[in-house]
Amino acid sequence: MMNNTCVIVPAAGSGVRMGGAIPKQFLNLAGRPILHHTLSALVKMPSLSMILLIVAEGYVAKTRQLVSQWRLGQPVTVAEVRVAAGGRERSDSVYNGLGMLPEECEWVMIHDAVRPFASPALIRAVWEGARATGACIAAVPSTDTVKLVRDGNVCQTLARDEVWLVQTPQVFRKQIVTAAYERAVSKGWKGTDDASFVERMGSPVSIVEGERTNIKVTSPEDLQWAEWYIATIESGRR
Ligand code: C5P
Repeated sequence: MMNNTCVIVPAAGSGVRMGGAIPKQFLNLAGRPILHHTLSALVKMPSLSMILLIVAEGYVAKTRQLVSQWRLGQPVTVAEVRVAAGGRERSDSVYNGLGMLPEECEWVMIHDAVRPFASPALIRAVWEGARATGACIAAVPSTDTVKLVRDGNVCQTLARDEVWLVQTPQVFRKQIVTAAYERAVSKGWKGTDDASFVERMGSPVSIVEGERTNIKVTSPEDLQWAEWYIATIESGRR
């Protein structure tokens, strides 16, 4: 059993690609905010000590109020949900969160607020996968061919059987991810996921096969797909 796991949920994005005024994590999906769906999946994980939600500065008070009113479904295993302010880039938001974790926290799970469909089984598998290496991420093999493109021209085609599309959750031993982020900040490295900083330190990162349904709700089409997906699951239950 890996005790003392804290979850950081970066939710401080502005959602420019969605096009609206409300950040996508607060948009409704089947009648409740996307963030509510995401938290409902996370709270089912056994032995979580804390969920730390990182939101944009102007949303801290509102989110605290929202979360205090939410019923997240059963069983709720987490001892505490906290809300704090994020930064300009996703990595700034996560770095803020890392600095707020309690001393006794040994493992850190990082999960995007806008991935409402990660199943409890996947969340658990990534968490258990981190035990051996200290770092584990969810990813799916690419079914599309991936090419590197610069200035509108292809420069390289990657070997498809080696290309994986990376998701969250990502789980790390706290010492590893904190050291990786400190190094990244001091060197000015940029990264769009957390594991990339751990990789750059030369630490191993293992993979658990993710779920194609664990999408990151980014564009209006994603939101439409998400509505359809929930309706499909619910009609299957009836
Ligand atoms: O924009 P991106 O796709 O990287 O967003 C992934 C997650 O990171 C989203 O849940 C978003 O709210 C969060 N994020 C953040 N702080 C930022 C930018 C994005 O917490 N400055």
